[in-house]
Amino acid sequence: MLARGGHNAWQAARALPDLEKDGYVKLIPPLVLILALLALAGGCGKDLSKESDAELGLNAQQAAGRAVFNAYCAACHTAYSSSGLKGPGLKNLFRRQYLPSGLPADDRFVEQTIVGGRGMMPAQGDALTDEQLRDLMAYLHTL
Ligand code: HEC
Repeated sequence: MLARGGHNAWQAARALPDLEKDGYVKLIPPLVLILALLALAGGCGKDLSKESDAELGLNAQQAAGRAVFNAYCAACHTAYSSSGLKGPGLKNLFRRQYLPSGLPADDRFVEQTIVGGRGMMPAQGDALTDEQLRDLMAYLHTL
């Protein structure tokens, strides 16, 4: 009796920590997943604007376009983030179906925006030569 009672008490004492342990164990897979996703997001979140043209794998034309972007666009737009400055972030510009305005994300509408301006965005057409515009477009396609 005493021995049995003792055993039961021992079992009862074990039951709680076991339950707790099981509870924590069940939390591990989702936690690991969350940590992995955070690590991944951290990796993707590394600031590509600080990378060299070579590190970004840009060809000569795209690199020239990047210089145009930094001179004429970077004050208002980020290239590698979707968070905006004065204008929307241009990350994945052509990888999306639509521009922030809702227009189709294709060369025609992007060129129109650059050359003619849009809303609060001043027209850049007079500032850029045809070649600079072509280079810039080539660069924007890498985002
Ligand atoms: C003075 C700030 C400013 C500069 C400089 C500027 N933009 Fe913008 N840009 C904006 C603003 C603000 C918008 C949002 C316009 C709107 O939809 O009202 C915008 C919108 C855009 C859009 C989205 C158009 C759409 O249809 O949604 C693109 C693409 C763009 N800009 C590219 C560029 C490029 C490339 C350059 C450099 C040649 C540039 N911008 C220079 C402020 C600027």
